[in-house]
Amino acid sequence: MAEILQQLILDTLDDKTAINDTRDLTLPGQSGPAVSHDAQITILGALNSLLSRDMISYETHEISSHILTPEGAQIINEGSHEARVWSALPEKGAGPPLSPLQLKKQVGDETAKVGQGRAFKNGWIGKDGDGLVKLISMIQDDTQIDLQEISSTGTLKSGEKVLADLRKRKLIIQRKGQWFSVQKGPSFSTSTAKPETDLTADMLTSGAWKTSTFKKYNFEAEGVPVDSGALHPLLKVREEIRSIFLEMGFAEMPTAAFVESGFWCFDALFVPQQHPARDLQDTFYLSDPAKSLLPEPNYYKLVSTIHEHGGFGSTGYRAPWNHEESTKLLLRTHTTASSAHMLYKLAAKCRGEEVGGGEGEDTHGTSMTAGNPGKGEHDDGFRPAKLFSIDRVFRNETMDATHLAEFHQVEGVVADRGLTLADLIGFMRVFFKKMGIEQVRFKPAYNPYTEPSLEIFAFHPMLNRWVEVGNSGMFRPEMLEPMGFPKDVRVHGWGLSLERPTMIRYGINNIRTLVGHKVSLEGIKNSPAVMF
Ligand code: PHE
Repeated sequence: MAEILQQLILDTLDDKTAINDTRDLTLPGQSGPAVSHDAQITILGALNSLLSRDMISYETHEISSHILTPEGAQIINEGSHEARVWSALPEKGAGPPLSPLQLKKQVGDETAKVGQGRAFKNGWIGKDGDGLVKLISMIQDDTQIDLQEISSTGTLKSGEKVLADLRKRKLIIQRKGQWFSVQKGPSFSTSTAKPETDLTADMLTSGAWKTSTFKKYNFEAEGVPVDSGALHPLLKVREEIRSIFLEMGFAEMPTAAFVESGFWCFDALFVPQQHPARDLQDTFYLSDPAKSLLPEPNYYKLVSTIHEHGGFGSTGYRAPWNHEESTKLLLRTHTTASSAHMLYKLAAKCRGEEVGGGEGEDTHGTSMTAGNPGKGEHDDGFRPAKLFSIDRVFRNETMDATHLAEFHQVEGVVADRGLTLADLIGFMRVFFKKMGIEQVRFKPAYNPYTEPSLEIFAFHPMLNRWVEVGNSGMFRPEMLEPMGFPKDVRVHGWGLSLERPTMIRYGINNIRTLVGHKVSLEGIKNSPAVMF
């Protein structure tokens, strides 16, 4: 059909130079419109196809037209209700008048009901005793005549008032429609042969390119989506959080070591050797190799003594020290293991060790310290530091909708002289505010390595409740002083998971749709960038 229409349009244009009204298009040898008045929209495809090849141009004309309802169509065949009532009745004096009941029987309930009123009003019928009779011998059924006109032209010359009345009587309904006027375009021809889309080697050798017509470039067309890699939502959120830390003046800690020893993951942090977190059910231990090398012997001795007998103001755990437990290799259960390493390195100068590289630089080349001792103060080697990390940790968890055996922790650590709990709270308020979390609350908690410790809760406007978002605290002197930090140095830190804010951000409620084999690649590709 599309080709026939295109050809008809081109042939008609060739013949008559312009088509003033597409409703007048006729197919050769056929009477009546090629496309009915209420189906003009079907020409649009043919017109646009020709327009894209510059063969024609066209204008659209909006019209409203009317079509008949089934009841309206019935009137064309059988006459209006009033005409049917009129013709059922005898002329006055020519026979016994029809009772209303007899009339109903003859023309049907509906016709009798509607028709009687209108026939009376028109003066066509009247009462004769108890019955009904014709008053005139000839009628003109205007309703039928109007409907005939509408059926063939879609409208009425006599005007909108009658149309509105017929619409109210539910004999016709209004349809918005259109028709088109068409002119020849710059590339007009009567041939609808598809233009070439490519210039081929064959065309060049045969010379066919000279006579071929070529399809124009469509600079508006969207390209095929490029198949490429995409950042996982976790990586996008990690980048956002990283930039928050960086703009707050933090340096990133090296966290590549997923495998740690029991010493750095727990002992150095003053986690008792009997702590349930160290159980096989909670921590993944390595079988090969199973043992780590020992840390620097003096430090190791200090840590084990504090655990066993106390020191630095602490009573210790008063339980025998287990060397085995300390050297077990494991997958780190928190990034605080890496922070412990870094704090130990930060205190190197305080221990009187020679530090390689420039002033205040650690062995990884990360400049993690800043500032100088105050004028006139004795230099004990300490430099304040603000450190952060965002990396993977592992726990032997039963997996469910919100827990996996591995996840990411975000951690911030600040070391300076005389820091207080208020400094920690202030830091966290700023940090979470930058993440878009305005309302935070803190609840006393317990960590073996911090005292006091605070759980962090944030108000979640979508969930309309407070949710736990992190954990924090002031590192214990039992942990800091054996490392060599001067007594007035305080270190505070806070940690949170990367998964939780990511899930909240992307409206994900099952972690398995964020990480693992059930993740939709499409979802990853289409996930928007985050802006806290
Ligand atoms: N390591 C803690 C956790 O796993 C977080 C934390 C970091 C707490 C630093 C205090 C200080 O939840």
